[in-house]
Amino acid sequence: MTALRVDGERLLRRIMALAEVGAIDGGGVCRLALTDADKAGRDLVVSWMRELGLTVTVDRIGNVLGARAGAAALPPVIIGSHIDTVRTGGKYDGNYGVLAGLEVIERLAEAGVVTRHPVAVGFFTNEEGARFAPDMLGSAVHQGELALDLALATAGIDGPTVGAELTRIGYAGETPVGGAVRAAAFLELHVEQGPVLEREGQEIGAVTGVQGISWTELTLHGVSNHAGTTPMSMRTDAGYVAAEISCFVRRLTRELGGAQVATVGHQVFAPNLVNVIPNRVVMTLDLRNTDEQILQQAERQTFAFVEQIAASEGVRVEQRTLARFAPVAFSPEMVARVEAAARAQGRSVRRMPSGAGHDAQMFAPHCPTGMIFVPSAGGISHNVREYTAPAQLIAGANVLLEVVQEVAG
Ligand code: GLV
Ligand code: MN
Ligand code: MN
Repeated sequence: MTALRVDGERLLRRIMALAEVGAIDGGGVCRLALTDADKAGRDLVVSWMRELGLTVTVDRIGNVLGARAGAAALPPVIIGSHIDTVRTGGKYDGNYGVLAGLEVIERLAEAGVVTRHPVAVGFFTNEEGARFAPDMLGSAVHQGELALDLALATAGIDGPTVGAELTRIGYAGETPVGGAVRAAAFLELHVEQGPVLEREGQEIGAVTGVQGISWTELTLHGVSNHAGTTPMSMRTDAGYVAAEISCFVRRLTRELGGAQVATVGHQVFAPNLVNVIPNRVVMTLDLRNTDEQILQQAERQTFAFVEQIAASEGVRVEQRTLARFAPVAFSPEMVARVEAAARAQGRSVRRMPSGAGHDAQMFAPHCPTGMIFVPSAGGISHNVREYTAPAQLIAGANVLLEVVQEVAG
């Protein structure tokens, strides 16, 4: 009997079709969570789920699962990821994993394979966190890591709440959440979004875990005054304090070493004029590390510096945690399965941690969880230029198909 393989052309066609929804210049995609574009993307994927005859459920936080029955009344093996994107997203981040899951199920159905466990493919609300913080919001609620009420009340960067937007786009579902749906296992196939696999000439990454994430919003309150007449010694300049903080976190990463990363990705000045000292800056800090102790040290040092530099300028600081997730390790059994499946298909494979956040990290404490990476050209992601070659996408989907067959029985 020849081993089952995905229909690569069909997978690629679906990736390209979904990428047309919310397409932006340069070949990228903008489908910020719960916007009209996200709704259109959701509708398209749901239509494919229904064409396949899957049982589609939408839960109260808008997560969508399409399930194919198994031979036994057992919890499902869930293949999941997300279809929301950042504002400058590519075609593959998240979307690839969802559409590969759909392809795996379609292939199993075509081949007449009935698994013991049901197999479900899903997409989780607001994985990116680019519109609503925290990231992985839908999967966090799904796995009982975040309270539903709190998630629904979360306001986006443009004002409306998750709950209001879910209702507006018609995805405030009825299915209960909060750990109600237990999974037998969770699998996520994703582009690496970093340079490691390409640099080493490896085809598959067997993901060992996800690094810790710390997101903080700082609001710095200064005093506006005339840029020409106010002596330097008499300023309360929120913009200056923001700049010092940005430089400090970069210095800190050098001091703490290779695994520590830090990003100031959002900064808004008020009144934002050439000749007015800024009276307010809203900025974000994204700190990540695979080591929880070092991540905590990075937070302590950063927050101490924020206090000190703000005090020296007479600037008042408001600090708000947007997301905080400790590093997670995936089940050794699942890592070994991914590695073995890749080898069995003649693929080169290496174990590696994930630098990006993923829905899988919300499932990891609750069920055997694994992730498969494929290379990202130039290590580029969260950019319209994100690219993975078709053969690499198909290779990853075949590894997923193999692992799903093993785990679902
Ligand atoms: C979310 O996907 C992140 O890693 O920022
Ligand atoms: Mn992603
Ligand atoms: Mn992303």
